Amino acid sequence: MVSPTFIYESAILVALLHFVKGQEGEKHILVKRGAGPSNCYHSCDGLHHGGCHNGFCECDRGWIGQYCSVRDCSSGLYCTNGGTCVENGMDYTCVCKDGWSGTDCEQVDCTWSGHCNNRGTCVQTSTNTDYTCNNCASGWRGNSCHLIDCSSKVYCYNGGTCMGDVNGGTDYRCICEEGWTGRDCQFINCFSPIRCMNKGQCHLQNGGKEFNCTCADGYLGDNCQIDMCSPYKIADIVFIMDVSVSQNETTFVEQKNFVKYFIAQFPLGPDHFQFSLILYASEPHAVFNLSNMYDNYTIIDAVDNATIPDDKRGATFTGKALAFVKDNSFATTNGGRADVDRYVILLTDGMSSASLDTANQAKLLRLSYPNVRIKSIGSGDIVFHTELLEISTYPLNVFPLHGNDSVRSVQKSTMYGCERCTTAYSDVVLAFDVSSFNYGQLDTMLKTAEVLIANLHTDVNQTRVGLSKYESIAEEVFEFDEYTTSNEMISVMNKHIMKSETCMKDKQCSSRDISSLLQDVLREFQKNSEKSRRKAVVIFSQFIFDKDIAGRVVLEIQNLKDNGVSVIVVGEGLEANIDKMLKLSTTSFFTFIIGEDFNTPIDAILALMSTLEYNICFVQ
Ligand SMILES: *[C@@H]1O[C@H](CO)[C@@H](O)[C@H](O)[C@H]1NC(C)=O
Ligand SMILES: *[C@@H]1O[C@H](CO)[C@@H](O)[C@H](O)[C@H]1NC(C)=O
Ligand SMILES: *[C@@H]1O[C@H](CO)[C@@H](O)[C@H](O)[C@H]1NC(C)=O
Ligand SMILES: *[C@@H]1O[C@H](CO)[C@@H](O)[C@H](O)[C@H]1NC(C)=O
Ligand SMILES: *[C@@H]1O[C@H](CO)[C@@H](O)[C@H](O)[C@H]1NC(C)=O
Ligand SMILES: *[C@@H]1O[C@H](CO)[C@@H](O)[C@H](O)[C@H]1NC(C)=O
Ligand SMILES: *[C@@H]1O[C@H](CO)[C@@H](O)[C@H](O)[C@H]1NC(C)=O
Repeated sequence: MVSPTFIYESAILVALLHFVKGQEGEKHILVKRGAGPSNCYHSCDGLHHGGCHNGFCECDRGWIGQYCSVRDCSSGLYCTNGGTCVENGMDYTCVCKDGWSGTDCEQVDCTWSGHCNNRGTCVQTSTNTDYTCNNCASGWRGNSCHLIDCSSKVYCYNGGTCMGDVNGGTDYRCICEEGWTGRDCQFINCFSPIRCMNKGQCHLQNGGKEFNCTCADGYLGDNCQIDMCSPYKIADIVFIMDVSVSQNETTFVEQKNFVKYFIAQFPLGPDHFQFSLILYASEPHAVFNLSNMYDNYTIIDAVDNATIPDDKRGATFTGKALAFVKDNSFATTNGGRADVDRYVILLTDGMSSASLDTANQAKLLRLSYPNVRIKSIGSGDIVFHTELLEISTYPLNVFPLHGNDSVRSVQKSTMYGCERCTTAYSDVVLAFDVSSFNYGQLDTMLKTAEVLIANLHTDVNQTRVGLSKYESIAEEVFEFDEYTTSNEMISVMNKHIMKSETCMKDKQCSSRDISSLLQDVLREFQKNSEKSRRKAVVIFSQFIFDKDIAGRVVLEIQNLKDNGVSVIVVGEGLEANIDKMLKLSTTSFFTFIIGEDFNTPIDAILALMSTLEYNICFVQ
C-alpha cells in the first residue's frame, strides 16, 4: 500500500524535475533527500556523479538518487530516436525503436522499411546517424516520403482538384468536378444535375464508375442533353432572294420578314447555325456571308437593311445567283464548314430570264455539294411552280412564302427525330366546276387531280379527301373517310366526273353559279373536319363568271377563308381567268394554271404537297 504522503512527495519531485528540465544549462539537480553533511562529499563528489551542497547531493544530469548513483532514464540523455531507456543501477540499456540500433539507438538501420514509409529508398548519412529518402513513390514527397504530393496527379481523378492540407500535409482531399464523387472523384454522382438531364434516370454501372441514362421522352444523348425538338444538327444556310423587277416592294418586305422569322428559330454562331443572304436580279449581290453575322440582333438588322446595288437590278438571272452560291457561299474562306448540313433557300416567283441556265446551275450546285438541300419558296404576284420543282427536284422542298411550313421542314430535319415535330395531314375537298371546261380542259384537270390524289397519303388519320362537283347542280361525290385508298378515290372520281358532261355538249363554256358547290364544301368541313386539321379546298375551274354570279362566288370563297379553309384554284390554259384566280386564292402560290399554253405539266400540282402534308413542331 502506498501512503498518501508518499504520493504527495513524489508529486513535488516530479514537478520540480519539470521545472528544472525547462531551464537550459542547469547542471545539477538539487535532491532534497539524501545524506547528511558528514558523508556528503565522499558519497556524491568522489564516487558518484554529483556535488555536495549544503549537505545534500546535487546530481549531474543523467543521474539520480541519494548519492547520484542511479541512472536517470527520464533525463532524455540516453536512448535517442525514440528508444526506451531502462535503468539498471549504475547503468542503463536502450530498447530501440524499429530502424535504430546502437547503445543509445543512434545508428540508423536502413534495412527497416519504415523510415521512408515503404515509399522510397532509405540512404544513411556518412555517420550512420541519420538518413534521407530518395525516389519517393509517385504521390509522395518529404524527408520520409510522408507528405502528399498533389502535383503528382495520382489523386483526384476526372478533373478533381487535390488539396494536400489534411493532417499536416500527410493526407489529402479532393474537390470533384460536377458529376463525380468519392475520395478520388472516381465515382459517378448520379444526383448531379449534369447526369441524365431533363428528368432522365441515372443508373450506376461497373461499381459506380460508369453510368447510363434512361431519358425522358423527347431527349437523347449520354446525359439526355439533346432535346430532340431543338435544332441540333448544325447547318450552313444560304438565302437567295429574287429582287428582280417582277418582285415588287410588298413582296420584298414579305421576303425579308420570312428570312427574319426563319433565322430567329435557330441558334447562331460558328458552332451553331450560320446564315448568308444573297439578293439577285441581273446579278447576285452578297449582303452577308456565312462568317459575317453571329449576333442575332445585328443579323436581323442586316436583313432589314438589305438592298441591291442599282447596277445589279433588272431581270431575273436565277442561274447566276445559284452559280454564285456554288462558287462562293459555302467556301471555307467565307465561313463554310465542310462537315455540316447545307441548305439553300431560294425565294423567287419561278420565272427566271434564262430558265435553262437556272436548271443547269441548280444541278451543278447539287453536284458540287452533294448534301445540299435546295428549298424553293414561291413568292411574288404570280408563281410559276414548274421551275421551283425543277430547282428543288423534290416536291416536298417547294413551299409558299406564306406560312411557316418551310421553316418547320428545315427545323425538323435538323432535329433528331423529334416526336413533337411531326407530319400533319389535311382535310382536302376537291371541287370540280365541270361546267367551265371543255372536254380537253376537263381531261387535263382530272389528270391533275389524279396526280395529286395519287401522291397524298390517304390512310386512316392521314390526309382525308372529299370530292364534290358542279355540273348543273352541286353534288357531293364522296365525303371524307368514305374511301381510304388513292386508287379507289381516283376510280370513283373518273366514274362520276364524266368527260362527256362538259360544256362541249352545248358549246357554252362559262362557269355557272358555283356558290352552291362552295356551300356544300363548307358544310362538309363543318360537319366532318376536326378543328386541329388543316383544311383546304382545291377548286378546279376557269373562273369565268357573269358579273352577278362572280359576286356570289367571291362571297362564298371569302366565307370559306373566314372558316379557316385555304383556297387553292386550278385552271387550264390561256382561257383561265388568271386575274380572278389570283384574287380568290389564299395566296398567289395557290393559283395553278396547268397546260401547254404555260408550259406547265400536270405535275406542277405537286407543289401543293408540302402544304397538305406538312411538318409541325409543338412547342413545349
Ligand atoms: C443501364 O444500366 C442498367 C443497370 O446496369 C441496365 O439494366 C440497362 O439495361 C442499361 N441501359 C442501357 C440503355 O444500357
Ligand atoms: C461575301 O463573299 C463574296 C464572295 O467571296 C465577296 O465578294 C463579298 O465581299 C463578301 N461579302 C461580305 C459582306 O463579306
Ligand atoms: C439572341 O440570342 C440570345 C442568346 O442566344 C437570346 O437569349 C436572345 O433571346 C436572342 N434574341 C432574339 C431577338 O432572338
Ligand atoms: C442598318 O441601318 C441602320 C440605319 O441606317 C444602321 O444604323 C445600322 O448600323 C444598319 N445595320 C446593319 C447591320 O447594317
Ligand atoms: C405587289 O404584289 C402584291 C402581291 O404579292 C400585290 O398585292 C400588291 O398590290 C403589289 N403592289 C404593287 C405596288 O404593285
Ligand atoms: C409563323 O409562326 C409564327 C410563330 O409560331 C407566328 O407568329 C406567325 O404568325 C406564323 N406565320 C404565319 C404566316 O403563319
Ligand atoms: C387515329 O387517331 C385516333 C385519335 O388520335 C386514334 O385513337 C386512332 O388509334 C388512330 N388510328 C390509327 C389507325 O392510327
